[in-house]
Amino acid sequence: MVIKNVEFIKSATRPAHYPAGDFPEIAFAGRSNVGKSSLINVLVNRKSLVRTSSTPGRTQLINFFDVNGEFTLVDLPGYGFARVPLAVKKEWGPMMETYLSKRANLRGVILILDIRRTPVAEDVQMLHWLRAYSVKPIIVVTKCDKVSKNERAKQAAVIAQTIGIQMAELNFFSALSKEGKDQIWQRIEGVLYGAETEAVGAES
Ligand code: GTP
Ligand code: MG
Repeated sequence: MVIKNVEFIKSATRPAHYPAGDFPEIAFAGRSNVGKSSLINVLVNRKSLVRTSSTPGRTQLINFFDVNGEFTLVDLPGYGFARVPLAVKKEWGPMMETYLSKRANLRGVILILDIRRTPVAEDVQMLHWLRAYSVKPIIVVTKCDKVSKNERAKQAAVIAQTIGIQMAELNFFSALSKEGKDQIWQRIEGVLYGAETEAVGAES
């Protein structure tokens, strides 16, 4: 993917505020602090297009970014962080389900998981919604720089089993080393333009 231009379009919480137009859209979901914003920044070759933070739960809005005037990347609010206020937690489910079910532009969702952690209930819920609303999932396992090759293999098995998918469906990534960037773009292009290499492929 050649990135010519990326720009922030707007933030929204409800459909009336989603951007108009019919550009195809790819959204990024995952628990707070998992590395959603970092992944987007690496994909578009920008150090800080999307604000990253060591304080979990900073992104509470749905943030839309235009790429090349061709498609849209969407940073979704993180979930599962204990210190987020209850009122915010209660809004997450309806806000997500509304976006996933009503956003006609949406083609695929990148579900981001931490290689060191067992997926939480919200991760599984997200996958159920994607199936229910026929949105293609791309599973990215991030922070791979933090574990050894052995630990990676062990954790990959736990993650695949917990969310009920094949290990071959996992795309390994690190925002530090940028490992996995090209493969994730291939998956995104497959979902955006319906190429052979779709969300779930045999090679990995
Ligand atoms: P919220 O918006 O708060 O939900 O977080 P987020 O999912 O957008 O995570 P963010 O990209 O802000 O990253 C959270 C922290 O993890 C930051 O301190 C990042 O530098 C760090 N981080 C993200 N990806 C990686 C990675 O691949 N490797 C390492 N070592 N650190 C990472
Ligand atoms: Mg973020």
